[in-house]
Amino acid sequence: MSEFVRVTDSAGIREVRMLRAEKKNALDFAMYDALAAALESANAADIRCVVIGGVPGAFCAGNDLKDFQTMAAERAGLGAPIVRFLHALARCEKPLVAAVQGIAVGVGTTMLLHCDYVVAGSDARFMTPFVSLGLVPEAASSLLAPRLMGPRRAFALLVMGQPLDAQDAKACGLANIVCEPGAVEAKARKAAERIASLPPDSLAASRRLLRGQPEDIVARIDEEAAQFRTRLNSEEAVAAFRAFFERRK
Ligand code: COA
Repeated sequence: MSEFVRVTDSAGIREVRMLRAEKKNALDFAMYDALAAALESANAADIRCVVIGGVPGAFCAGNDLKDFQTMAAERAGLGAPIVRFLHALARCEKPLVAAVQGIAVGVGTTMLLHCDYVVAGSDARFMTPFVSLGLVPEAASSLLAPRLMGPRRAFALLVMGQPLDAQDAKACGLANIVCEPGAVEAKARKAAERIASLPPDSLAASRRLLRGQPEDIVARIDEEAAQFRTRLNSEEAVAAFRAFFERRK
């Protein structure tokens, strides 16, 4: 479905890899659809755990800003593939492990709030410049981040756009462990193997208890998406997208 997303299953573990290295794994619509399909089908398949990873130096640079420009020009809201992916994250019934090397921007960070176990390379850098871009937080991060790290740290991250390095991420609970960038994939795989070895019914019941109702999270995703639609078409956002691409000329 997208040449930039590769899905491989082995020994009950699904690996979902973002592979658009030249754009630092910025996500376009086809990538969102492919990621969503990989999560949705993991629920039905004989999969015990899903590992989401990127490339060395780039976990994910967030939404493709060109697509944001298009959505703003068309007065559209968040595209259907984006919302599909966010809902799939919230409704995923299998444990999610993330392997983060390098930059994790926007949804590259907020998708981690849905993960059950996060391995960060020492080169990882987490940024959510939503407000600088004239936008609002998404992916239910306005609900999940304050729960995870407390409202003040969530404000600094999501509203002020203060970046976190790997150690900061571990300190606030966004990452479980920090290791050398070259060890991230192996550590994530090891965690996934451990999860996959657990009794599946007990694992599923326990995970459901820890996560609560997915529909509460879906409702917040939709509430944020409504605000996002207004913000995408705002002068603040349009100017910020233009500035990003003009800086590069
Ligand atoms: N959307 C579209 N293209 C993006 C992108 C994004 N979110 N992030 C990076 N790219 C592109 C760049 O335009 C550049 O393309 P080019 O080679 O055709 O000029 C390429 O990816 C490499 O990015 P570059 O900025 O040169 O890498 P860097 O290591 O100096 O910086 C980032 C990496 C991620 C810090 C920087 O690219 C950035 O700030 N990107 C925007 C992130 C963002 O705001 N995401 C949305 C959050 S809601």
